[in-house]
Amino acid sequence: MSGSNSQLQVGDKTVDMAIKEGSVGPAVIDIAKLYAQTGMFTYDPGFTSTASCESQITYIDGDKGVLLYRGFPIEQLAEHGDFLETCYLLLYGELPTAAQKADFDYRITRHTMVHEQMARFFQGFRRDAHPMAVMVGSIGAMSAFYHDSTDISDPHQRMIASMRMIAKIPTLAAMAYKYTIGQPFVYPLNSLDYTSNFLRMCFAVPAEEYKVNPVLSRALDRIFILHADHEQNASTSTVRLAGSSGANPFACIAAGTACLWGPAHGGANEAALKMLEEIGSVDNIPKYIAKAKDKNDPFRLMGFGHRVYKNYDPRAKIMQKTTHEVLNELGIKDDPLLDVAVELERIALSDEYFIEKKLYPNIDFYSGITLKAMGFPTSMFTVLFAVARTVGWIAQWKEMIEDPSQKIGRPRQLYTGSPQRDYTPIGRR
Ligand code: CMC
Repeated sequence: MSGSNSQLQVGDKTVDMAIKEGSVGPAVIDIAKLYAQTGMFTYDPGFTSTASCESQITYIDGDKGVLLYRGFPIEQLAEHGDFLETCYLLLYGELPTAAQKADFDYRITRHTMVHEQMARFFQGFRRDAHPMAVMVGSIGAMSAFYHDSTDISDPHQRMIASMRMIAKIPTLAAMAYKYTIGQPFVYPLNSLDYTSNFLRMCFAVPAEEYKVNPVLSRALDRIFILHADHEQNASTSTVRLAGSSGANPFACIAAGTACLWGPAHGGANEAALKMLEEIGSVDNIPKYIAKAKDKNDPFRLMGFGHRVYKNYDPRAKIMQKTTHEVLNELGIKDDPLLDVAVELERIALSDEYFIEKKLYPNIDFYSGITLKAMGFPTSMFTVLFAVARTVGWIAQWKEMIEDPSQKIGRPRQLYTGSPQRDYTPIGRR
């Protein structure tokens, strides 16, 4: 490496590659011309050393356990801000003034209803469908509804599409829940704030008055802030890749939702709670710790470990506090799941295997317990994650579309299949 250049020796060729510095964090080696210069690709399955884009939205220092949205620490945003303020920050790059915030809240609120035909669209799903399946389908279906906001070359239309998704995805999420439990859909109520409105759409029934519990609303709002963005994670990269072809923005967010569903990503909170239920009691923990450490056993401690955080996930700390607040508010004194979680965390954090591999609890470890206490079934956990992450996906999608150097994403491969061979007619095989 020399100055702002690095050199790679490939056979007898020396290739110069520029080093690009970010504002903080690791620099990158620009390998864009490597193939032209050497005839070789780089190989990095799972993108463990590859930066796929330049971004100004979110910064993570996994070793120090730092997460910043537009430079602001997650702890400060979760403590002092609200979710829509975070949305504004992620989308526009700055915290809003009071007037900007009031205007933004107003505009989001005015987009919360979905086209009435969406309700009929829901009837096509089986009642026992996983709500994430319903989310993937219904978010994708929005691409068939809002034709006046799909010209992605028009900044105004991009912003309308963005606001529509932030506003309507909670409505779809609540509808997905209501549909699976066979209750009528509850229309949004614009006098409520974003998260209180969401709680009402999920838990109100027409037969009764519904009063939002402000402690639960604040806790859920904080959960939304914690999940709002996480730089180039799998679902965000999916949204960017889908969007790089110029695809419809609603369809791109549906693609991100599909990716989020997996248990290694957004599905982990559901998996973590199921695991705590399976462990059942503190006495069974050693058996499960042994399973997690056994190379021949596919079992992993769900809610532990992270591709980027090799220190305590900063979101997990806030989440743990929120869990206690919610359980206190609801008067849940002895939750056996919480007992298992606390003890599991204690044992894992003092176990050589977990220490050596830097496996710490991640956000999903505690979020499941909190959401369950609020009344959400496990199948809704990833849906709530999707509601919160929508703004991150959109901010990243917008950033990509607005980047003049943007190209269609097209990874290369190391081909290990058969070389060219001739076709044999079926009778001769
Ligand atoms: N339990 C036991 N061992 C683990 C775990 C775990 N949860 N996570 C990683 N390991 C081990 C793994 O077996 C490997 O060991 P070795 O080096 O001996 O082969 C080592 O730690 C490194 O693991 P890796 O799979 O190479 O790490 P990764 O960066 O590819 O995976 C992860 C990250 C999050 C997929 C993984 O830690 C995991 O599967 N965790 C459980 C699922 C989970 O909680 N996911 C939520 C992530 S946070 C929410 C989000 O951002 O979506």
